[in-house]
Amino acid sequence: MKGKFITLEGVDGAGKSSFLPWIERRLRSSGKDVLMTREPGGTPIGEQLRDVLLHSEVSALTEVLLMFAARKEHLDQVIVPALEAGVFVLCDRFTDATYAYQGAGRGIDLAYIAMLERWIQGHVQPDLTLLFDLPVEIARSRSGSVRAPDRFEAEQVDFFNRVRQGYLQRADASPSRFRVIDASRSFDAVEEQLAAIEMLR
Ligand code: TMP
Repeated sequence: MKGKFITLEGVDGAGKSSFLPWIERRLRSSGKDVLMTREPGGTPIGEQLRDVLLHSEVSALTEVLLMFAARKEHLDQVIVPALEAGVFVLCDRFTDATYAYQGAGRGIDLAYIAMLERWIQGHVQPDLTLLFDLPVEIARSRSGSVRAPDRFEAEQVDFFNRVRQGYLQRADASPSRFRVIDASRSFDAVEEQLAAIEMLR
């Protein structure tokens, strides 16, 4: 495909969403066509599923299935057409989040997630994944409390420690796709790490 698929990952409170506009500006200033989107979500059905996932009590396995249902719509309606048209797709979370949150966090067998990944995504994989990594205690202290926490944000420190380790294992397994960003540092220092990444130039 002509475009590039770039995903942003990290535990809640890692600050990745604050850098999306910065990355978008940077890519646009070098003449790239950019689409910003997110998971779960990114399509009308996907946003409805997001609402269910973030606010309704569902089992861990149902969570996985709904994530992939939303992902299928997202891939077919948004991501693949944009990549085929040569667009840089910047996606706030993708399948690595399912491995980290539902797999490492909730204990769903990773083999089930891998099966769904193969079935739903086929050959589509991110070209670059930015993992915003930091100790969970720092992420939680940054999260603030402007609104009531959703079902994921309301989880305990142990859950997020498992999610963080799940992400780091994913990064270790695919070092050519992942860039691990030290998100515990200042905004400027994180920008500097991002600025050094070739695909974002
Ligand atoms: P966000 O707050 O970064 O938009 O993400 C919404 C929540 O959804 C976040 O707490 C992580 C969770 N999530 C999963 O548990 N599995 C997934 O596959 C995705 C994409 C998100």
